[in-house]
Amino acid sequence: MPNFLELEPLDVARSLRLPNAFSISNTGSNDFYHRRCRELDITPHPARMPVGLAAFFIELLTDANDIVFDPFAGSNSTGYAAEILGRKWVSMEIREEYARQAAIRFEDPEIEQAKSARSETPKNGQQPRAVDKAKEARLANNSNGKRSVTE
Ligand SMILES: C[S@@+](CC[C@H](N)C(=O)[O-])C[C@H]1O[C@@H](n2cnc3c(N)ncnc32)[C@H](O)[C@@H]1O
Repeated sequence: MPNFLELEPLDVARSLRLPNAFSISNTGSNDFYHRRCRELDITPHPARMPVGLAAFFIELLTDANDIVFDPFAGSNSTGYAAEILGRKWVSMEIREEYARQAAIRFEDPEIEQAKSARSETPKNGQQPRAVDKAKEARLANNSNGKRSVTE
């Protein structure tokens, strides 16, 4: 069952309101973070946020090189999304094992790919290619055309 982020107040009289919602899967179990956790015999953080959700709000609310702060970082999905999107980030996590585990995310080759793509981008006001690349990697269309984000 996907998680839904309603963009407008719920209207109980309407039977269909999916156009106002993101359908975001949080079940990705074969991304880099999960694969490395398995290799290292680490139990992934139990309450991870979909990276695509963090990426959506980072793109909406910040510009390149802005600082993104997450005081409850967990596996640091936020810092990872910020890194991919060319933002600086500061994250805090009270549990050392989660903070250590979060470092796995920054071994992901996708980060270097996003940086390379960004360095090729002309500074002409267009959306950086890295953002497009990150979106391509993170945002896939469902067969029914709804936006779907997998971690
Ligand atoms: C819901 S999880 C965050 C999950 C994260 N968004 C992710 O995608 O992995 C909340 C985290 O906040 C941490 N936490 C709780 N109290 C905290 C505090 N006072 N300072 C820093 N981190 C705290 C918990 O250990 C937990 O890992």
